[in-house]
Amino acid sequence: MATADGATPQVSAFYNTFPYPPDPLQDGPPPGYNWRWCYATAYSHCTGRAPEPHHPLRILDAGCGSGVSTDYLVHLNPGSQVTALDISSTALAVAKERLGRSGGAEGVHFHCLSLVDAPSLGRFQLINSVGVLHHMAEPARGLAALAEALADGGILHLFLYADGGRWEIHRAQHALQLLGVPADGAGVDFARQLIDQLPEQNSIRRRHHQRWALDTNGDAAFADMYLHPQETSYNLERLFQLVEGCGLEFLGFSNPQVWALHTLLQGEALERAQALPQEQQWQLMEALNTEISHFEFFLGKAPLPQHTWSDDGDLLAATAQVNPCLWGWPGLQLLGPDLEPVNLTPGELNLLQSIDAAPDQPLQHMADPVEPGDQASLKEVVRSLWRRRLVLLRPPVG
Ligand SMILES: C[S@@+](CC[C@H](N)C(=O)[O-])C[C@H]1O[C@@H](n2cnc3c(N)ncnc32)[C@H](O)[C@@H]1O
Repeated sequence: MATADGATPQVSAFYNTFPYPPDPLQDGPPPGYNWRWCYATAYSHCTGRAPEPHHPLRILDAGCGSGVSTDYLVHLNPGSQVTALDISSTALAVAKERLGRSGGAEGVHFHCLSLVDAPSLGRFQLINSVGVLHHMAEPARGLAALAEALADGGILHLFLYADGGRWEIHRAQHALQLLGVPADGAGVDFARQLIDQLPEQNSIRRRHHQRWALDTNGDAAFADMYLHPQETSYNLERLFQLVEGCGLEFLGFSNPQVWALHTLLQGEALERAQALPQEQQWQLMEALNTEISHFEFFLGKAPLPQHTWSDDGDLLAATAQVNPCLWGWPGLQLLGPDLEPVNLTPGELNLLQSIDAAPDQPLQHMADPVEPGDQASLKEVVRSLWRRRLVLLRPPVG
């Protein structure tokens, strides 16, 4: 068995005091969805197509904390085998209770283990590791272990802190370290007072109240932000250095709207920006958007062929599935995967209902929703539904 990461004793002690996330336990399945934790939707985001079925589908929540993500992974992927690991026995105890109360405990195996040891648990089609690697002494070693535990064709979802939008947190952390403030209940009280006693116009105090106060209402969240014993954060350059070293492919951000140039630029500036290579476009956004406080993204292990569905024959031979991450389905007015409002035309609703009723039927055998007998409009409608992530498309087997 591998030796745990150098920071494990301190970090597990911290999370034994402050299990995270501190979300309340509740009876029944978790509310709504997060598409990043639904394998079919996440895989389609990464490759353009729905995945082949796996029997069983194996999912790992690496650094599951108090089990909020584990709960979603179980409920959004019925029939899958979910494994959850963490180095904090207290966080794991909360996670077990959460899954017991939500009705999801049966599908989960919990391990009190460092993710450095993840490869000993087998191979996984989906690994989720949110807010974990940046709390290791050697994040690259942790990432190498996750890369090894990923099955061929598997996808890995990561969330890591970004320097740009966290400067005030870093300064407050540094000040609290200089003052020797401990990571316990008394330390949290002291740190809250310190921030509140800064002059009103002080930008650490202002930023805390504008941006972080709501998130850090509870002591565990406050300690996680300001009193953590082990934390690294990244800029894009160092992020891509980390990724390059692990042998996996970068498959894109899981919050692409944050990186969309048109949200900040227009006219000639937008045109020039769009002409830059992709990595420089992201650097530009990193420079202009001072609020980016984390990177969330997918990495993948080959083979992961990309599908754009530009070929008519491929499109018509495909089968389709209504995206499981929709709110209000079936209906004309929905919320999409990112909870964006979606209005369907009656023709789109008809087609989605036919797809729902016969998910194994190739699209070419579906009745055209607008002009019966005219496949040109069928293709247009399907491509539009796919671009809006309302359907997932799968090529025929073989
Ligand atoms: C900020 S919490 C995130 C919890 C959960 N992933 C979430 O986002 O809701 C970080 C978790 O990672 C765990 N952790 C830190 N280092 C770890 C390691 N080397 N192996 C496994 N878990 C680790 C901590 O114990 C803690 O529960």
